[in-house]
Amino acid sequence: MKKNLLITGGAGFVGSNLAVFLNGRLADYRVVCLDNMQRRGTQLNAARLKDHGIRLIKGDITNSKHLARLGRVDLIVDCAAEPSVLAAHQEPRKAIQSNLIGTLNCLEFARRSQADFVFLSTSRVYPVAALEEIPWEELPTRYDWKKDASGTGYSYEGITRQFPLSGVRSLYGATKLCSEHLITEYLDMYKLRGVINRFGIIAGPWQWGKEDQGVVGFWVARHKYKNPLSYIGYGGTGKQVRDALHIDDVCELVLLEIGQMERVDRQLFNVGGGRKNSFSLCELTGQVSTITKSVIPLASVAETRPHDLRIYIADNSFITKQTGWAPRRSLENILSDTSQWIDGHFQKLAPFLS
Ligand SMILES: NC(=O)c1ccc[n+]([C@@H]2O[C@H](COP(=O)([O-])OP(=O)(O)OC[C@H]3O[C@@H](n4cnc5c(N)ncnc54)[C@H](O)[C@@H]3O)[C@@H](O)[C@H]2O)c1
Repeated sequence: MKKNLLITGGAGFVGSNLAVFLNGRLADYRVVCLDNMQRRGTQLNAARLKDHGIRLIKGDITNSKHLARLGRVDLIVDCAAEPSVLAAHQEPRKAIQSNLIGTLNCLEFARRSQADFVFLSTSRVYPVAALEEIPWEELPTRYDWKKDASGTGYSYEGITRQFPLSGVRSLYGATKLCSEHLITEYLDMYKLRGVINRFGIIAGPWQWGKEDQGVVGFWVARHKYKNPLSYIGYGGTGKQVRDALHIDDVCELVLLEIGQMERVDRQLFNVGGGRKNSFSLCELTGQVSTITKSVIPLASVAETRPHDLRIYIADNSFITKQTGWAPRRSLENILSDTSQWIDGHFQKLAPFLS
């Protein structure tokens, strides 16, 4: 008999891509998705899941009865969350419900089923002020950390999981960090197996990027549909830096973790595109313009939004050492795959992306 793999947030960007990817590759698992369908675009992801023969149940992880109705599960990949820093500021109770109480319900469900647990956490668990204090310099097209920058949990290559956790990080980051603590306790107390991945920016097809979340997809979509964009914060020059990880690299990592659960059990990883896949917003504009052959108006907003970051790049060295995994796709791959995805469904995606 097949085992049951539950993906919460399974109609979201990461969850739906994972479902499609894992469904074809884990012969002994039946993939089931659960989603409250609140995020814009989930209905299109739902149609894609249906096309692949994957069961999607409308339900909310904040309601433990919705989870109990699923019966027994053997593995939970928890992708359900309100993933926006700004949205969590605007509706803190809702974010805490989904991102923390929701995770608690998933853990209780895992405890009853003795299920393995894969958690999608975030680089946003790291405190803002400490990240901003890393020595940086202004280069012609980007801010960057100084080449000799080095301290506990950071170097020029990026942020490691040793980075100190004391300080304010945003409510979104706080809910995810609290969830991590709960997961650690549950794994220990109830002898469950699980792994925590602190991801930076993930991007690629089937992401419904918006101004406050999913910046890479948002940038590509704005160019495709010829909508204006703004550089927001840090003087409005577009020099703030991030790294981006292709969704297919994420899917390969989760597949590897499921297959090597004994090895990754109780581990906590920093995961991201890394320095090779880093970009500033104005560099991104150049690359996206080339790929989409589109130039759009770009405004500037000097004022920095609360809890924004000047630079974030993940250091993948620990996860690579432990598992052999490393990002295989470049930023250019991410941008061209996202651009081709929009080309392939231009009219259908327009109401969600333009
Ligand atoms: N996308 C990224 O760049 C990124 C980076 C780091 C971490 N993450 C984490 O990865 C996970 C997936 O993110 P994503 O980019 O796919 O976001 P997403 O918004 O596309 O997907 C989240 C899904 O969860 C659903 N959802 C929200 N609250 C729910 C609830 N209470 N019950 C059931 N479903 C609910 C939403 O409808 C949505 O479909 C999140 O936990 C997020 O924190 C994402």
